[in-house]
Amino acid sequence: MCGIIAYTGHRPAVPVIMEGLHRLEYRGYDSSGVCFVRNRELRVVRAEGKLNILEDKLAGMDISLATTGMGHTRWATHGAPTENNAHPHLSFKRNLAIVHNGIIENYRECKDILLDKGYLFFSETDTEVLANLIADEQVEGMPLIRAFARALEKADGAYAVALLSPEEPDTIYAARQSAPLLIGSGAGENFAASDIPAFLPYTRDVIFLEDGELARITPSGVDVFSIADLKPVLKTMTRIEWDLQAAQKGGYKHFMLKEIFEQPRAVADCFAGRVDAKRSAVRIPELEGRPVPSRLRIVACGTSRHAGLWSRSLMESWAGIPTTVETASEFRYRNALLTPGESLLVISQSGETADTLAALRLVKEKGAASIGICNVIGSSIAREADTVIFTQAGPEISVASTKAMSAQMTVLMLMALYWGETNGTLSREIRNRALAELADIPAGLSGVLPTLESEAADLAARFASCKGMFFLGRGQSFPLALEGALKVKELSYIHAEGYASGEMKHGPIALIDPDFPSFFILPHDAHFAKTLSNLEEVAARKGPVIALTNPPKDGMEIRGGESWLLPEAWGPLSSFFMLPALQLFSYKAAAFLGKDVDQPRNLAKSVTVE
Ligand code: M6R
Repeated sequence: MCGIIAYTGHRPAVPVIMEGLHRLEYRGYDSSGVCFVRNRELRVVRAEGKLNILEDKLAGMDISLATTGMGHTRWATHGAPTENNAHPHLSFKRNLAIVHNGIIENYRECKDILLDKGYLFFSETDTEVLANLIADEQVEGMPLIRAFARALEKADGAYAVALLSPEEPDTIYAARQSAPLLIGSGAGENFAASDIPAFLPYTRDVIFLEDGELARITPSGVDVFSIADLKPVLKTMTRIEWDLQAAQKGGYKHFMLKEIFEQPRAVADCFAGRVDAKRSAVRIPELEGRPVPSRLRIVACGTSRHAGLWSRSLMESWAGIPTTVETASEFRYRNALLTPGESLLVISQSGETADTLAALRLVKEKGAASIGICNVIGSSIAREADTVIFTQAGPEISVASTKAMSAQMTVLMLMALYWGETNGTLSREIRNRALAELADIPAGLSGVLPTLESEAADLAARFASCKGMFFLGRGQSFPLALEGALKVKELSYIHAEGYASGEMKHGPIALIDPDFPSFFILPHDAHFAKTLSNLEEVAARKGPVIALTNPPKDGMEIRGGESWLLPEAWGPLSSFFMLPALQLFSYKAAAFLGKDVDQPRNLAKSVTVE
């Protein structure tokens, strides 16, 4: 996720900005840049790679006189992580520069209009399009703030933007829509940043910008307006008491909890730019011009494999593609036979998992087509797959993978819709319903996560000391059961089994006793009645039962055990609520047992060995 820091005040701006960028490094980045005004001209310095490379470039420059400026660390989304694509981006007229976090969904349309008007572009980014959109709105005598607001009104999508222009050399403009941006208020100096740590050494007084707000920031004050009509908005100041480490976690106790709570954003960002405004068509440029696979072989490890398993029924029923899902470490050693037209789909958050990468290389040697789903731009899998679709989850720091899986599920669902459309195997009703309902998931999830967290804490306190536990489900709930068990094992070191609920009676049911609870993933779907029978079999053997289910309705009541009620959602979308509930339970169980949540023993974030 990109990081923004902008400063205006009485100190040399560039050192303050560089310090702020270092404090935002935890967000992950692949290039960086700063800009400031000198002699009424904008100076922009950018670099690919780590911040020390940018610092080396700045070392030979006279930067001491600039007291206003802004900086950016870029986590590439549109365009490769090169110096050219790094922020800040100047407008073609060089009269303003912006830094941006987020995605401008309609940037292609806007770019075409600007190209027709003679604008030239020097990067592949949506940000440069926004810079020129603002410049294009400026007409003689129009205040910069109005041009900025008008351009933002034309931009669809998510953004946090800061703007600097030599016309108002001591002023930073900053605006937000669905991406984090806050203002630090100091004495004779003010800041805008993506996150509090960026300015914490200078001030603890923070103004939180809301969606649709735009701020004018000068050394002496901050004024906030509504983007829509530039009417002033009254804001209150919040005093931050967190220490730096807590601030990097956004006030959450652990990165894992922060990342669980970032899932609404991750889903929204994966959806953004891939679905049209009417929610009636999916666009995946990375798949355009490529034949629809006649068979799909999904290969991955751990949580990413569970996301693949979850998608299998969508690939088959919506896209009409026979699909198998395999563990990368097994696949690579069994000389698998691939049929003509079959494609490999590798899924990996890190893009560096050794077994998944080996499977990719093996299949490429055999001449089959390969597709990657990755979260890390520039990673090995992202570079080596024939085409790669990036999840927009932002950096995942906790070893336990959480938001990456929601992001992978979103992308996989969009792929199934896209291929279904191309293959003619998907009805328009299903496509429209799926897109409309998926668009609502982020808001629904944001609303329910705090409640789930406290319910998970209560369950964890009651069950974390058991000798073991089952996670059971059928259909798309089966991979969720596997994921629930994996999370409990890796975080709290409790033995947990994930099983297909119908397979229980073929042996594992012998484990059931009062100290061995079973978590049933039991949404109101087509499998409800069958899985309910399995639940009753466990309850009859005096095993504690917890059903993750939806509020009861006629014919769908649960007898036996207790229910953890989650919002009902259409079709496969209930998984977007079940998954965070399972993650929160495992998180709370580990925290209850005093385990190292973000760095569980024996584990690494990316498994680069066999
Ligand atoms: O980076 P990848 O998605 O390829 O990683 C795969 C697994 O190592 C990973 O999902 C692992 O299972 C997680 N620690 C689970 O939380």
